Amino acid sequence: DSLEKIPVKIFKTPKEGSQQVARIISDLIKEKNAAGKKAVIGLATGSTPKSLYAELVKLHQDEGLSFKNVITFNLDQYYPMEPDALNSYHYFMRKYLFEQTDIDPENYFLPNGLIPKEKIKEHCAQYEQKIADAGGIDLQILGIGNNGHIGFNEPGSPVYSKTRLVTLENSTRIANSHEFGNISQVPRMAITMGISTIMKSHRIILMAWGKTKAPVIQKAVEGKPTEEVPASLLQNHDNCTFVVDEFAASEL
Ligand code: GLP
Repeated sequence: DSLEKIPVKIFKTPKEGSQQVARIISDLIKEKNAAGKKAVIGLATGSTPKSLYAELVKLHQDEGLSFKNVITFNLDQYYPMEPDALNSYHYFMRKYLFEQTDIDPENYFLPNGLIPKEKIKEHCAQYEQKIADAGGIDLQILGIGNNGHIGFNEPGSPVYSKTRLVTLENSTRIANSHEFGNISQVPRMAITMGISTIMKSHRIILMAWGKTKAPVIQKAVEGKPTEEVPASLLQNHDNCTFVVDEFAASEL
């Protein structure tokens, strides 16, 4: 398995790549719903999936794609973080996808950034259980950090890790500080699905746009799978594809 390279689909623009991924999601929803089942989709935040969510909203508006029978699980959430705060991933998801579709608020899940410290372990175990109860994730959408992180699984995250509280690398806090006033306002911790949570998804699509992602895409695809570059561990998944633009593919 790890001898096989991750398939990389290269598009001229993020929009074209996002349209392709939106089609895959739309087909999955229709296929599951036709079989009387709900589609279970793992979602990511950050700048990368914004164009994907715009395409999904378009499919909802123009083609009537319904999210009524869709369950979603987000990868991560800062800790601590109020759900209604401008930088919360709840807020992000509501703004870019949920409020613009017919998804039932009971059907989308994100880690709770307000859970008291002493209840985090239990909350994380429940998050894993909810995913299992839904039948597992049919398709997980991922972005990638400049240091190779997936979700908030920073370099060194164990392959067997599950949903848990993690400490963010300073480089990650700097990379994400543009969403906040300044770095001191970026939380130092987050709750994230683990590497094993992600690897259990039946299918994975990692998206990346732009020149700054080119070096880490090269390492993830062509480097040896290592916990030091968490995305490289996806080489061990049998149904994972990278969808990138020409800039992100430029070092392959
Ligand atoms: C964030 C998120 C990740 C995301 C990554 C890349 O911190 N926790 O899920 O994939 O970093 O972000 P961006 O898409 O803005 O480059």
